[in-house]
Amino acid sequence: MRKPFIAGNWKMNKTVAEGVALAAGLRETLTGVVDIELAVCPTATVLSAVRDVLDGSNIGVGAQNMHWKASGAFTGEISPPMVKELAQYVIIGHSERRQFFGETDETVNCKLEAALTYGITPIVCIGESLEQNKAGETVAFVGRQIRGAFAGVSAADAVKVVLAYEPIWAIGSGLTATPEDADRIIRVAIRDVLVELYDVAVAEAIRVQYGGSVNAENMATFIVMPNIDGALVGGASLKVDSFTAIVKNALAALRV
Ligand code: PGA
Repeated sequence: MRKPFIAGNWKMNKTVAEGVALAAGLRETLTGVVDIELAVCPTATVLSAVRDVLDGSNIGVGAQNMHWKASGAFTGEISPPMVKELAQYVIIGHSERRQFFGETDETVNCKLEAALTYGITPIVCIGESLEQNKAGETVAFVGRQIRGAFAGVSAADAVKVVLAYEPIWAIGSGLTATPEDADRIIRVAIRDVLVELYDVAVAEAIRVQYGGSVNAENMATFIVMPNIDGALVGGASLKVDSFTAIVKNALAALRV
């Protein structure tokens, strides 16, 4: 059984004071939630303070990016040991980083390997653009991203990876894939490729979140799909009320 996992990606939002307030609020409203794994991913400067607020709670902390080298002359970057001090998770290869900061399947692969080496759970993002979607290239493209991300990764390590299928056109747009389409893409472009790379057991063990305009209203429709194991939430993770409602609605849908 894959444990559902909902994570908030705060992106470049929240100062330390704002992040602390949001984390403290979530700690209160989400206390006692055990059936869904929970995490928030603040910006690097806010990680330490949020980690302190959430220490000993049921909400984990993730970074939004990291370099793959342990140290060195890489101005502006943060390394795996630095992340490891403050966080259990790291988002890797978010489409905004691929689009604006030159991330490629190769850098994603290096970062994925580094995260696994340091015992940080990677949340690896994949997903197609609107043009690729319209051209019918989604399955081939996402499949390529999966092959690139997992290159050289052993089966024992692969099962520790979390994936987030995020169609780029659905991010921050208010548009979502239909739950049926997202479920089908995850099946054929992700799990079937993982069967080829590894085996059925590995493909069925890896958790895959959906991301892209997830909110309290649509969360339930995604979480009940057989191949969708939770969500990576951007905009709706920035307020206590909306992120709490997402988690509560997911819990309710899972219990039906
Ligand atoms: P969104 O962002 O929920 O604001 O669409 C999701 C993401 O980019 O992870």
